[in-house]
Amino acid sequence: MLSLNGKHSEMADYDANAAAYDNWYSAENDYHLVELTRFFQVLDDVEGLNVLELACGDGRISRMLADRGARSVFATDVSTKMIERAVEKNRDAGGGTLKPALTFQVLDACDADFQLAEPVDRVVGMYLFHYAPTIEALQQMCRLIGRNLKPGGRLVSYTVNPDYDFTHTDPRVEAEFKFSYRMVSPPHIHLVFKDLTVNLWQWSKSAHEEALHAAGLEDIRWDLPCVPDDRPESAAALKWYLDKPSCLVLSARKPR
Ligand SMILES: C[S@@+](CC[C@H](N)C(=O)[O-])C[C@H]1O[C@@H](n2cnc3c(N)ncnc32)[C@H](O)[C@@H]1O
Repeated sequence: MLSLNGKHSEMADYDANAAAYDNWYSAENDYHLVELTRFFQVLDDVEGLNVLELACGDGRISRMLADRGARSVFATDVSTKMIERAVEKNRDAGGGTLKPALTFQVLDACDADFQLAEPVDRVVGMYLFHYAPTIEALQQMCRLIGRNLKPGGRLVSYTVNPDYDFTHTDPRVEAEFKFSYRMVSPPHIHLVFKDLTVNLWQWSKSAHEEALHAAGLEDIRWDLPCVPDDRPESAAALKWYLDKPSCLVLSARKPR
């Protein structure tokens, strides 16, 4: 199902060139190992769970969640073009209908009113919080998460490392991962793909933690990215990044 939440008005960065991002994601790149491994370790089993996904992009994580047995994935993104792509990319091979577990909807994760009919077991946001242009926007994202999680439910996200030095990004990021960062003026950063520049903001650990606490979440954890245990050669080759990663897994839990 695709629906549009009529509240979104500004054009999202990713509307400008959704295809450029798509091309980067489809290409073979060891960065995909790094971003996904710890995220799914921390998320753990989703079999039979209901999931709200924020900033779903073209639905690659939504698809992985459905393939891992999630009962439902309500996947949302502020970019209309990304949601259109998500719908196109997640059709069943045969009938052309969407995989039954998946629903896609345009939604700004800062929306102050959004409320699912039923709270969910997990909220996931792979690259979410650093799109908050202000602390207030970060707090709004956390409030949306808090009010849509069940008691005992968990948030798992992947986000900009608050302690990463974006003024001295290792040149191997661009050479090996095919994207780069440019500090505009702290906390504002540009993420640069070949044909697409995206605005990011680097908020402190305490800003995230205060916003999550205020939204009623606890057990806040920051986990370093990793590669799978059976890929020691990748761990060695990527040590330069894994020792100083630009993104971390951030998770939290709503108390019972
Ligand atoms: C780097 S992409 C990640 C997409 C997906 N999570 C993935 O990992 O494949 C970031 C996505 O965040 C979305 N986004 C940015 N700001 C947002 C907001 N305020 N609310 C919802 N989505 C947002 C963008 O439109 C884009 O699709």
